[in-house]
Amino acid sequence: MSHTIAIDGYSACGKSTLAKAMAKQLGYRYIDTGAMYRMVTLFFQRQSVDIEDEGAVAGALSGLEVDFVPGSNDALLNGENVEAEIRTLTVSRFVSPVAAIPAVRRAMVAQQRRMGADGSVVMDGRDIGTVVFPEADLKLFVTADLTIRTDRRLAELGASGKAPDRAAVAENLTERDRIDSTRADSPLKQAEDAIVLDNSALDLSAFIERGMALARAIPS
Ligand code: CDP
Ligand code: CDP
Repeated sequence: MSHTIAIDGYSACGKSTLAKAMAKQLGYRYIDTGAMYRMVTLFFQRQSVDIEDEGAVAGALSGLEVDFVPGSNDALLNGENVEAEIRTLTVSRFVSPVAAIPAVRRAMVAQQRRMGADGSVVMDGRDIGTVVFPEADLKLFVTADLTIRTDRRLAELGASGKAPDRAAVAENLTERDRIDSTRADSPLKQAEDAIVLDNSALDLSAFIERGMALARAIPS
């Protein structure tokens, strides 16, 4: 029997780290929906798409294929590995306005549902438990304090050799959370039946163990 685990929450709060670890331990497929919106954003930036122009958005969406490399899960945009490029602040600064466009969401949600129909999945994002899979077997809503999230994201960007300043990262996280929570279509919000996991004071292994304990309690 296949199962769906939905993980939503704020920017850089540990969703994908948790989702990846749980998928690995459970033998489920992991799907990073944030990477999908980031790929759309990169494509729109490269094509200089005017996001106010519905026709231009529809045209660009018809020429775009987003997928993942089997095994590594690297982001694949029209067959090109763009994993590093989609994580830059250039893409992070533009992604929330792009992800607020209803036509973009319709295309991504349809693909996410197809990916989730193939077997057991752990999917992370902003609207997985509320919109993509409202019937998910387990819904987690992850949070952590903004200062902690900023430090963690800064460390990640620094490790890839491109460390922007702290204020720029904090501002990007705050601004994305604001746009994501207030957009009309599928805003970021906790599903009524989601379990909140605040990991501000939890190290990675304790955090993952919390998630795994909840997953093990899913009736088979
Ligand atoms: O990893 P981080 O928390 O920084 O962001 P992400 O999960 O890669 O998502 C990037 C952006 O994509 C978010 O800020 C949202 O604007 C958008 N997103 C969305 O609208 N819906 C989703 N299911 C996932 C991401
Ligand atoms: O997917 P999302 O943007 O929500 O966050 P992430 O990329 O999974 O996590 C951001 C960073 O926080 C990663 O480097 C994680 O290893 C780190 N993290 C941590 O150090 N302790 C936790 N309890 C959760 C995440």
